[in-house]
Amino acid sequence: MASTTLICDSEPWKDLKSHVEDFKKTHLRDLMNDKERCQSMMVEFDGMLLDYSRQRATLDTMDKLYQLAEAASLKQKINRMYSGEHINSTENRSVLHVALRAPRDAVIYSDGKNVVPDVWNVLDKIKDFSEKVRSGSWVGATGKPLKDVIAIGIGGSFLGPLFVHTALQTDPEAVEFAKGRQLRFLANVDPIDVARNIAGLNPETTLVVVVSKTFTTAETMLNARTLREWISSALGPFAVAKHMVAVSTNLTLVEKFGIDPNNAFAFWDWVGGRYSVCSAVGVLPLSLQYGFSMVEKFLNGASSIDQHFRSAPFEKNIPVLLGLLSVWNVSFLGYPARAILPYSQALEKFAPHIQQVSMESNGKGVSIDGVPLPYEAGEIDFGEPGTNGQHSFYQLIHQGRVIPCDFIGIVKSQQPVYLKGEVVSNHDELMSNFFAQPDALAYGKTLEQLLKENVPQHLIPHKMFSGNRPSLSLLLPSLNACNIGQLLASYEHRIAVEGFVWGINSFDQWGVELGKSLATQVRKQLHASRTKGEPVEGFNFSTTTLLTRYLEASSDIPADPPTLLPRI
Ligand code: F6P
Repeated sequence: MASTTLICDSEPWKDLKSHVEDFKKTHLRDLMNDKERCQSMMVEFDGMLLDYSRQRATLDTMDKLYQLAEAASLKQKINRMYSGEHINSTENRSVLHVALRAPRDAVIYSDGKNVVPDVWNVLDKIKDFSEKVRSGSWVGATGKPLKDVIAIGIGGSFLGPLFVHTALQTDPEAVEFAKGRQLRFLANVDPIDVARNIAGLNPETTLVVVVSKTFTTAETMLNARTLREWISSALGPFAVAKHMVAVSTNLTLVEKFGIDPNNAFAFWDWVGGRYSVCSAVGVLPLSLQYGFSMVEKFLNGASSIDQHFRSAPFEKNIPVLLGLLSVWNVSFLGYPARAILPYSQALEKFAPHIQQVSMESNGKGVSIDGVPLPYEAGEIDFGEPGTNGQHSFYQLIHQGRVIPCDFIGIVKSQQPVYLKGEVVSNHDELMSNFFAQPDALAYGKTLEQLLKENVPQHLIPHKMFSGNRPSLSLLLPSLNACNIGQLLASYEHRIAVEGFVWGINSFDQWGVELGKSLATQVRKQLHASRTKGEPVEGFNFSTTTLLTRYLEASSDIPADPPTLLPRI
């Protein structure tokens, strides 16, 4: 029997609801004057500094949020995750991405079995295979070393690895390890993405890694068949064994596809797709590009946060604080979005990755027990690196809607540039903006300030900034493999904290299914119309009209066309 108890019925929730009233009269400008408050809103772990003093929160708010965490049994839920309970109840699965980066001698159980040895078996296999490919002892069908890799996958089988790859691309140590090699990602079923990925590559020197948890995802499987054709049409069908490997939980389907199971790298159903970057999903392509030792540093970084998250008291626990503050912003202050603003071009794919982790996890309308939620869960995540974003959407966040912002800054640039005679280094120039923007949002600009500046009367309303716009700042000492792992794990756990408090299942994703099944119906119709000339039937007026227009306008496509690959 489903439990109907919701967190919104708890006393701490009600208390926080009435606490919101206190903020009607409080401006961040005043809160920022309270040094003691600001001091206690700085938390550090392993060189990473979180400053949340620019949140619309007081110490009293924090106490109330800790009480809410208690009412939501947050600590117990975290423990249940780490101990392998089936907290993903709608799929009857454990949620153990923490096991993917656990030390070799750790013991973590799922269904009565310690999973850590299995994790390390696969890691050892990846180390061995990637070293063979990188050293040239594993060669392609024509005897040439495989220097380029195309990883095919979508969603969680793409976004996390892409984020880490992009973040490492300019790290000086990683650059050395990647010399002469390329890693590309083919995600979209759009044939243009195929064309862009194979452009300039030679099948003789390319290794294709098919990454799919289920090995049934329509986009990934069509792209895999397309690149299998690209390889076999150039090198013969036997070349596939040397040029294609796979990462999946479904090794039966991998073999059916024609990939040697010895060249398949397993993971397990207790790894959610969007939490899979630390499994073979990310570790294999990244090890091929940067070497296993580099990827191990990334795993160690994530693992250090796993330990911090599990053991630090809530007041000092970075993922818990981040999660509770997001709940405060969404459920109490009513802000539906969150901007992720890394002041680092290397983190340009961080927001796209977090979009999936956050929105696929927490975009839910019912509690874990299936009770419709009388409050909103999840938030709209978006973001761009600074300073690019400043010249794009910051207008809205300064004078339009209120959007809590995460400013992420790095102390030491991966690629410092100094120009003699310039006022500051290029990285200091970037970071000047990182330090300035949160204050601009918090303080705004008042009428008095504008009058002092002799701003013409008619421009005053346009040049006024209300301020009182919340943000938090995360300052990392540098952006190396370890810090990248720490950043990833901090956000993964933050999102789990939010879900635990909201009382939802952050680890299933039923909401993506409906669109997929409707696409199956359309695919059938397109096939029937193209091959047998069947009219469009069974759709509403709008879809029928659009489909008919599409078919008529592309009727020059033959019913049974010969294989055609991009020529680029
Ligand atoms: O879009 C839904 C989804 O199931 C994601 O959760 C997942 O990351 C993605 O598709 C890819 O799935 P797979 O790894 O099974 O191909």
